[in-house]
Amino acid sequence: MIVYITICVCLFFLLVLIWFINKVWWTPVRIQSRMRSQGIKGPSHKFIHGSTKDILNMKNETMRSPMELSHQIYPRVSPHVYSWIKLYGKNFLMWYGLEAQLVVTEPQLIKEILSDKHRAYPKREPREYTKKLLGNGLVTAQGEKWFKQRKLANHAFHAETLKSMIPDMIASAEMMLDRWRDNEGQEIDVYQEFKILTLEAISRTAFGSSYLEGENIFNMLTKLTFFISKNEYRVRIPVIGKLVKTHDDIESHKTEQDIRDSIIKIIKKRESNVMTGEVESYGSDLLGVLMQAYHNVDETLKISLDDLIDECKTFYIAGHETTASLLTWTVLLLAIHNDWQDKARNEVLQLFGQQSPNADNISRLKIMSMIINESLRLYPPVVLILRKVKKEVKLGKFVIPADVDITIPTLAVHHDPQIWGEEFHLFKPERFAGGVANATNNNMAAFIPFGLGPRTCVGFNYAIMEAKIALSMILQQYKFTLSPTYVHSPASIITLRPQHGLQVLLHAL
Ligand code: HEM
Repeated sequence: MIVYITICVCLFFLLVLIWFINKVWWTPVRIQSRMRSQGIKGPSHKFIHGSTKDILNMKNETMRSPMELSHQIYPRVSPHVYSWIKLYGKNFLMWYGLEAQLVVTEPQLIKEILSDKHRAYPKREPREYTKKLLGNGLVTAQGEKWFKQRKLANHAFHAETLKSMIPDMIASAEMMLDRWRDNEGQEIDVYQEFKILTLEAISRTAFGSSYLEGENIFNMLTKLTFFISKNEYRVRIPVIGKLVKTHDDIESHKTEQDIRDSIIKIIKKRESNVMTGEVESYGSDLLGVLMQAYHNVDETLKISLDDLIDECKTFYIAGHETTASLLTWTVLLLAIHNDWQDKARNEVLQLFGQQSPNADNISRLKIMSMIINESLRLYPPVVLILRKVKKEVKLGKFVIPADVDITIPTLAVHHDPQIWGEEFHLFKPERFAGGVANATNNNMAAFIPFGLGPRTCVGFNYAIMEAKIALSMILQQYKFTLSPTYVHSPASIITLRPQHGLQVLLHAL
């Protein structure tokens, strides 16, 4: 009996050893050599850590001190991509621990990956912390679940619905400008202001609530964001990583539960309003659309409570951080390039005078569209688009083996001199005078701030409308210049943000 048990234990350990060697050594070696044989090179895989230590060192080095006031931010924000493209070419292989990551920056290949309708390049499984932040909401969902959720979101952000959101967007911007009135002539951190503005707007338009109600959720989501950025390059050793929980693991789990409880409160409040007859229906905003689906008797249209909660988290996050980033970088650009600030203001005053924006005149803001596009090109709020290869697939002339992750670094594409010319790092909104197709020479994958293909941003029109409303209302009332205390330090922390905020001086007109 003892002999039998000893043999079983030895066999078990032998199998574990084979599995471990295969995972940490043989698979990386095999993938690396297959890619090299096709001309895709990259930094060699290092035991357990892959390329993460090198990436962290490069990032720490560039982020150690602020940069000069220029828009050449790519070597700073993604130093590893910048140096490895120079060394290994436009598409290269790097390693996130044991996971192979193919970095793709050639527009033709990007188009093939993002426009894929055969689901050959599904979204990458979110890492543990990102999963806590976004759950299985629209950004991360796959297959049928994604299809169902996308239909609901398309409905909630339909062009006609968007028009009905304009008054709430204006009211959110008015609240911000009211706060500013006490600070005229003084320095103000517009990054913080835009985070409140965009949270107020998404709270009102998607959840029929207010910033104050959403603030609690917002603070907890910010806490989770902090854990994500802190643990971004923490490699988990297989098995052991799952068993041993760190302080951040425990804290983030608790925060996730607290967010869930707060969202359930908002859902219950709406349910009780319907039950008491205070309102007739769940409403046509995002929460209303989702709650109708949650209560649907038809199983094919129904969503679960978990899906409802995850979708709320997703829209709180996706709906405000990104637009706050866009507004911040656009104000930076206009504070530096005063000629374009004047042009934008003249256009607003000609179209609206001192009236509030409306759907018709917002659509006629041509100069502002050019400025926003150039801002999205130079400072894309989302710097990475992620996919994976599930089954071996042919991509251009390459054959990509299964289980390779794909990373599309937006900044590398938007700052590529071969696409945008030698002045790629300069703010030149006139590039977009003939529209995006003209600016990119009909190369649609050369400008991807909102992604491309079936999983393109569902909030694209919402974000642009909100940004145009806020910028128009600011330009109607203020001239702004950069404060001498501003330190230029763009950093990628989920979105592209100014590490120390954006301080500007407001001058009432
Ligand atoms: C300037 C503002 C914004 C930028 C730059 C931006 C960027 C992006 C990008 C690049 C993607 C595609 C990611 C991928 O393909 O993996 C995306 C997807 C998404 N965005 Fe946005 N976004 C912005 C604003 C918004 C807003 C305001 C909302 C909500 C109201 C939103 C909700 C979403 C959702 C739900 C998805 C996932 C769509 C899907 O997978 O079907 N975004 N966004």
